Amino acid sequence: MREIEVNRDGHLVFGGADTVKLAEEYGTPLYVVDENYIVERCREIKSAFMDKYPNATAVYASKALQTIDVCRIVTREGLGLDTVSGGEIYAALKAGADPQKMVFHGNNKTKEEIKFALENNIGRFVVDNLYELVLVNKTAAELEKTASIQIRITPGVDSHTHKFISTGNIDSKFGISLKKEDRNEVIKYALDAANIDLKGFHFHVGSQLMDNEAHLMAMDIILGLVKDVREELGFVTKELNLGGGFGVRYVDGEETVRLEDFTDGMMGKINRFCEENGFELPMVYIEPGRWIVGNAGITLYTVGSIKTIPDIKTYVAVDGGMPDNPRPILYQAEYESVVANKAASKANKTVSVVGKCCESGDVLIEKTELAEDLESGDILCVFTTGAYNYSMASNYNRIPRPAMVMLKDGKARLSVRRETWEDLILREI
Ligand SMILES: Cc1ncc(COP(=O)(O)O)c(C=O)c1O
Repeated sequence: MREIEVNRDGHLVFGGADTVKLAEEYGTPLYVVDENYIVERCREIKSAFMDKYPNATAVYASKALQTIDVCRIVTREGLGLDTVSGGEIYAALKAGADPQKMVFHGNNKTKEEIKFALENNIGRFVVDNLYELVLVNKTAAELEKTASIQIRITPGVDSHTHKFISTGNIDSKFGISLKKEDRNEVIKYALDAANIDLKGFHFHVGSQLMDNEAHLMAMDIILGLVKDVREELGFVTKELNLGGGFGVRYVDGEETVRLEDFTDGMMGKINRFCEENGFELPMVYIEPGRWIVGNAGITLYTVGSIKTIPDIKTYVAVDGGMPDNPRPILYQAEYESVVANKAASKANKTVSVVGKCCESGDVLIEKTELAEDLESGDILCVFTTGAYNYSMASNYNRIPRPAMVMLKDGKARLSVRRETWEDLILREI
């Protein structure tokens, strides 16, 4: 979360805007995203990585928050886009993103998606497995195209984050194993395939990492692979993709991590390795998602029922919940919150913030302190909801998804309109 700012009316200010006024004007639940913050983070990526190192590039992992608006902002700032499906590619293209700066991920791309990506000249395919490699080559041949690829490697590193967001373990649905015969089968196929241009390797060790230990371990492993495949197969790696996973501060007490805290160590290793082993510096990609948008967003809710069970707890129910933010139920993710219209009040009322779904697990914050004078009708702000909220939202219980407003220099514009009940049945025949 970011520093809390309160105005003269005792209202929470976010991105230069009075959050209570935003709730009045646009309704709740409401995603509020601060464009200036996204721009700042993109510029930091440029100065701390892209401009600092030769051959360094960044693609925004758009799964974190993919709207046309956000794709446009990030594209304008010079980043490419990491996409994971035909749908994400479609929206990114609609936003005007440069296809050559797009990377297409996923562990089970369909033929239809591969065809769409090839037809639109997507810059890189990150190929996850042999089945997919064969399919990409075949589809490219049919279209008389060449697919430029990076092969995703499972580095076998335990990233210490929640099991569901750690992707680099040996037991992982992502990537090819490092076992010599497994990886060489895939690499050889890629080198022999007429419609594949193998550029290098990709790894991603996990998400919401607060130190660089796992990244550095994975880096050593991948550099070992780079050396081995030159010796064994004569393949000289031209590109390395280090994935994303750089963590952000969600709750009090957590550190703020700088991008360099991750990238400098890895770049140091790459540079030394190349010097010592006579390699040209490869093109290095990073794929930050959460790091760019996590703290760019908040969610505003209206407080409804407040139920105190004596000697047990007080449940504060809001007009959203797991459909707009499934992270607590998926990963036991933790959040901070404040009563936006009473942001100057003493926060000493211990409560559980829960959603409105027919599901006991629909708890947004298990335990938090809210304003002592909290009452129904208040506006509750949950911080750090920029990443993996809107993009993971559902319509469980036929709850329409919230609107999103984008703030620029404190001025709001509607970025995504609120879903209606009519929208909910549009596709039903
Ligand atoms: C391959 C890959 N790259 C990048 C990311 C972005 O991760 P984060 O948002 O933690 O930076 C992910 C997220 O799961 C991923 O799987």
